[in-house]
Amino acid sequence: MREFDETSITQAVIGRLSECSDPRFKRIMTSLITHLHDIVREVKLTESEWLAAIQFLTDVGKTCTDKRQECILLSDTLGVSVLVITLNHPADQGSVESTVLGPFYWEGAPDLPCGSNLAEGVKGEPTFYSGRVLGADRRPLTNALLDIWSGDGEGNYDMQMPEQTGMKARGRIRTDAQGRYWFRSIRPTFYPVPTDGPVGSMLRKMGRHPYRPGHIHMIVSAPGHLPVTTHLFVAGSQYLDSDAVFGMKESLVAQFDRHPPGLGPDGERIDTPFYTVNYDFQLRPAIAARGEACISAPIVS
Ligand code: BEZ
Ligand code: FE
Repeated sequence: MREFDETSITQAVIGRLSECSDPRFKRIMTSLITHLHDIVREVKLTESEWLAAIQFLTDVGKTCTDKRQECILLSDTLGVSVLVITLNHPADQGSVESTVLGPFYWEGAPDLPCGSNLAEGVKGEPTFYSGRVLGADRRPLTNALLDIWSGDGEGNYDMQMPEQTGMKARGRIRTDAQGRYWFRSIRPTFYPVPTDGPVGSMLRKMGRHPYRPGHIHMIVSAPGHLPVTTHLFVAGSQYLDSDAVFGMKESLVAQFDRHPPGLGPDGERIDTPFYTVNYDFQLRPAIAARGEACISAPIVS
C-alpha cells in the first residue's frame, strides 16, 4: 500500500521497523508510535495545535544549558521521572524508597566528618540530622556515604544564586563503625521548580502551582549495596499533598522536632530555636537487584 488513511497510517509506520535489529528499541518505538497516533486521533489535533506542540518542544530543548535541564523538568512535572523511578526501584523489606534527583545535584561536594555544619553561613533554622545506614538484615553499614544537598531556609539552591558563591548546603558524610551519621544543616522549606521557561508556562496554562514541599536530598550508597537517590521531607510542610513533581513518598516524611534555644545535641549553644531529625536509611544488597537499572550511582571509594 502506498497511501494511508487515518487508521492504516499507524500500522504502516510500525511496519517500517521490520528491519530493526534491536528488539527492545523496536518494542519501545512501536508503543510510542501507537500511543502518539492514538492521542492525535482521540483529540483530533488541529494543525495549529500540532505546530504549538512542536514549538513547545523546541523551546524546551533551547532552554537547556549546562546548568539547566528543561527536558528533565518536563519529565518531572508530567510525573514521568517518578514513574520510571518507582518501576525500577521497588522498595521492599523496609529498604528506603527512591525519589527524583532533581536539577540541583552538584557532583564533588566536600567530604566532611560527621558532626559538620553543611550550611555554614546559609540562611535557615538550624537542624541536627542523625540516624544510621543499615543493610537488608538491619546490620549497620560502616563507611556508607551520604551525598547531601538542599536549598537554604528560603528555598534557594546555591546553583540558582545570581552571584557565583560556590557550593552551599552540600557535603558528603560517611557513617562511623556503628553505621551512624550525624550532621548539621538547616530545615528546608517549600520552593518552586524553575518557572521562567516553557515548563513554567505549561504549568500556568494547566492551572498548576510549581511548588515542592520542604525536603533535603541525599544519595546514600555503600559497598555491595544499591545506591538510593532520595529525600527527607519535612513533616507538616506545605505542598506535601501536591508536590509539583510527584516525588513525595510517605515513607520519606521525617519528623523535625523543635527545641527552644539552648544546647544542641553536640553540646554547642544555639541562640535560636533549632530542630532535630532522626532517620535510618536501609539499603538493598546489590545482589538482590540484578537486572535493575541503577541511576545516579556514585562510586563509594
Ligand atoms: C528538586 O527537588 O531539587 C527538584 C526536583 C525536580 C524538579 C525541580 C527541582
Ligand atoms: Fe530539591
